[in-house]
Parts: sequence; C-alpha cells; structure tokens
Amino acid sequence: MSSARLPHLTAKLQGFGTTIFAEMTALAQRHGAVNLGQGFPDFDGPEFVKRAAIAAIEGGKNQYARSHGIPELNLAIAEHQKRFYDLAYDPEAEITVMHGATEVIASTMLALLDVGDEVVLFEPFYDSYLATIALAGATPKVVTLRAPGFDFDPAALAAAITPRTKLLVLNSPHNPSGKVFSPAELEVVAQLCIAHDLIAVTDEVYEHLVFDGRHVPLASLPGMRERTIVISSTGKTFSFTGWKIGWACAPAPFTRALRACHQFVTFCNGTPFQYAMAQALATGDEFYDGFVREYRARRDRLCDGLASVGLEPLVPAGTYFVCTDIRPLGFDDDMALCRGLPEHVGVAAIPNSAFYLDKAAGRHLVRWAFCKTDAVLDAGIARLRDNLRKNLARLHGART
Ligand SMILES: Cc1ncc(COP(=O)(O)O)c(C=O)c1O
Repeated sequence: MSSARLPHLTAKLQGFGTTIFAEMTALAQRHGAVNLGQGFPDFDGPEFVKRAAIAAIEGGKNQYARSHGIPELNLAIAEHQKRFYDLAYDPEAEITVMHGATEVIASTMLALLDVGDEVVLFEPFYDSYLATIALAGATPKVVTLRAPGFDFDPAALAAAITPRTKLLVLNSPHNPSGKVFSPAELEVVAQLCIAHDLIAVTDEVYEHLVFDGRHVPLASLPGMRERTIVISSTGKTFSFTGWKIGWACAPAPFTRALRACHQFVTFCNGTPFQYAMAQALATGDEFYDGFVREYRARRDRLCDGLASVGLEPLVPAGTYFVCTDIRPLGFDDDMALCRGLPEHVGVAAIPNSAFYLDKAAGRHLVRWAFCKTDAVLDAGIARLRDNLRKNLARLHGART
C-alpha cells in the first residue's frame, strides 16, 4: 500500500497503488540483490505436471474452458478435499475453478459484500484482502495477531463482530507470520462464526506446507462446512505460481453467488493448465510428503542462517516465510531497513508493517522467503554475514 494519490484511480483504490512486493523487487533488481522478499519459488514444479500441460496443448485443449472448471479438475479438487480432510463436495454444484486464489478472494468479496457490510480479518493480512474489501465498498474490522507467537485475544475478536459483519476471513497457514492456527484457536473462530451467523472465508493456499502434523481446515469443524467458503490453489503446492489455478469449495448457494461474479471477472482460466493440475492433485502421497520435507529443510537452512547473523527467527510452523525481529540490531523501522538492505547488504526482504493497519504492531518485523534454491539461500545468508554488521551505520543512515 502506498500513500501517494494516483490520478484517474477510483477513490476506493487510492492508497493501494503499488504493492510492497513490486517496490522491494524493483530495489532488488536495481542493486543486484539476492531477493528473499518475493514469495514465489525460483525453481519449477514436477516434470510430469509440465508434460501434462504440454500434452494438453498438443492435444487441442486450447479453447475457453467451462466457466466453473473442466469436469476433470472439479472432480480432482473434490477428491483432494475428501482424501486429505474428509470433506465431501459435489464437484459440479460446490466447486468453482478460478484464476488463482487471488481471483477467488476478489470474486468472493465482490459477490458477497454490499456497501456498508463489515469483514473481520486478522492482521498481518495478505494484501489483496483489504483492496478487494475496499472495491466492494465494505469495511474491514481488523484483529491483531501479536508477535512473537502471533496470538490473538479472543475477546478482541468477539468485539470486532457487529450486526453488520458478514464475513470472517481466516488464512491458515498464515502469510506472513508462518503461524498455523491451533485447534483451540480454530474452535474459538468457529464458535464465533456460528454464534453470529457469519460466513467464514478460509485462505488455505499453504495447506500442504505444515511442518508438524497436518493442516486442519476450519470447514472440518462441526457446524462449519455449511458456512465456509474454502479457498485454495495449486501455485504453492506444485511450484507453478504462474499458472494461476485456484478454486472455491462452498455449499451450492454460495457457489452460485461466486459463479455469478466469476463469469464476468475472468470467465475461466487456462484450459491446458487445468488438465495438468487435475493430474497433479491426484498424485501419490510421496509427492506431498517429499514436498513438505524439502521445505522443512529450506526453512531450517534459512532460520539457522538468519540466527547466525543475529536475526533471531520466529520459526514458522507453516508456509514458506519466516519473520525476524530487527530490534536486537538496533532497528525499529522495518520499512527503512528494507529500503536500505538491497543497496547496503545486497539482500531484499519485506517489511511486515505493510501487512498491518496498526503499523506499530509490525514495524519491528521483517519477512524472508525460503522458497528458493539452496544456492540462493546460501548466497543471501553469505551477504548478510559479510555486510549486515559492517554496514549497520549506513543502514541506520538509510532511515532518513
Ligand atoms: C495468503 C495468500 N493468499 C493468496 C495468494 C494468491 O494465490 P494465487 O497465486 O493462487 O493467486 C497468496 C500468494 O502469495 C498468498 O500468500
């Protein structure tokens, strides 16, 4: 979010001009920095998935897909939800394929929110939530997850709910904190949704990146399936973020509303990629187990490296992000530090305050991504080791 006013842009979107990711990536490119800011892998996903997409292209699967998804993919998503979570969805009436989770988030907000409706969500938040709530003319009510545990106060969550609240958004595993909401926390959220008749919107794009135990969808708690819109995508799980295959699983009345919006936003997404992802989702447990095992090793590699340079990591339970507290290095302004890092240290990261309305709650935190090859992680750590302490004075100067 930037504060500069952009001409032509609607009043609803003023302040959402340039994302922090674009700003930090531009800085990384200008200074040739190792980019540990951007949240996508610097390697490709499995060969068999690539070959499936190529086969679909060569096999003539190149025209518009059915708006709510090719039958094979809707079925594969239904089987995935049953296999991993024992959640049953009708592939035809309750599953909608869209253009990544990003479109599902936007279509959900635009389809369900009227002007004046309220949405309860946690901060730090994924940046598209606030922008799409604003596009819908609705109002966000934000509850803070407080570091180091990123815990929330159940009373604060209850107090954020008013008679105008329509949706509650939950992202677990959570970007940027790496938090996985505990069973007790999910229970608190579920009880409030039921008591206040709220619709839960769950962003589960990191569902296969839980390092201990298994992901638990909020929809799997008693009384929640019927009031939850489950959002996920294949970008993170199969390391093809550019293919943008996402979906919503939701009871038919919600699904009908989402589809009414989706048909006018993108109508459908890439047909050959849908065929490839139908095969990918059905792949064996060894893929999913290996995926999380490799990411656990990357997490440990980056966390150890950060700790070795004095950036104590808040070790994440899920996702491919880790946050560090910058105060032990004498910093209290994440934005200033991250603006100086590419030039003075040769590494880029993301300032957490970008994900908060209450900037003070996040300005001592910086987010690092470990969805990178070992060579890139090692290069980033080496630069931190060589340059961070040496250039502390310059970094402090970058503040002004
Ligand atoms: C929490 C969260 N939700 C949604 C998305 C977007 O997912 P997709 O690439 O499927 O649009 C991301 C991507 O970084 C994310 O971190």
